[in-house]
Amino acid sequence: MKTIGVFDSGVGGLSVLKALLLEMPQARYVYLADGAHAPYGERNPQHIAERAHRITQGLRSSFGIDALVVACNTATALAIEGLRVEHPEWPIVGVEPALKPAAALTRTGHVGVMATRGTIESERLARLRQRLEAGTDKPLHFSLQACDGLADAIERDDRGAINELSRRYWDALVAQTPGDVPIDTLVLGCTHYLFAADVLQTLAGPAVTLVETGAPVARRTRAVLGLDAASGGAVLGSPQVSLLSTGDPAPLAKAATRWLGLDVPGRHFPC
Ligand code: DGL
Repeated sequence: MKTIGVFDSGVGGLSVLKALLLEMPQARYVYLADGAHAPYGERNPQHIAERAHRITQGLRSSFGIDALVVACNTATALAIEGLRVEHPEWPIVGVEPALKPAAALTRTGHVGVMATRGTIESERLARLRQRLEAGTDKPLHFSLQACDGLADAIERDDRGAINELSRRYWDALVAQTPGDVPIDTLVLGCTHYLFAADVLQTLAGPAVTLVETGAPVARRTRAVLGLDAASGGAVLGSPQVSLLSTGDPAPLAKAATRWLGLDVPGRHFPC
């Protein structure tokens, strides 16, 4: 049986774990929330790179994992290239804001992107955006919005702050609209934001399609592990999941119960 390591700053990566469980219910998962260092979004890039390095070493040496999923857009943007250099022979899958699927989906040509400041200001995202805007004949414009505090509000499950910040950042995105072209596609470029999707969908309205990356990341992980599609399935059953946090594991276990229906105790794992 394959063991897959998954990490995020906190509970956001549970949205990716959910997609992984649907794609590969037969695998074993070790999920680590870097609770002692969350949120990542407004920290300096060097710190994120160091945390990603420590966590990868810790998961690899303690659990003998077969592959790593960096279930965090910020850590992917700022650290995945370094991780791949350090572990060249070992599969590492990242999550990236879904600009490419959004570019294919949009009809108005105007795509909104919400993500952490670390992701929005990263060179990796700038390169992806330029490549897509330059590589199409149809009108295409990405409006980017750094959403300071939103992942933290989701981490704390503070519904008041989630509502207020979601409104503030959606309004800021709409205010960036070039001409009169409305946003019809909204990229959730932070794995935490899936847990505010209901609020964001209500604000954006039914004409806007929300796009995220859980399912494609899960398919990619299955492919790199060489697992057969036929052995996947859409039933969660009794998944084998360990939940770890470098901080307090209780909020992680609670979120896993709420969002994934998992009844697994959280464990402190310092690294
Ligand atoms: N969930 C992470 C992401 O996808 C990080 C959020 C944060 O810690 O600020 O970017």
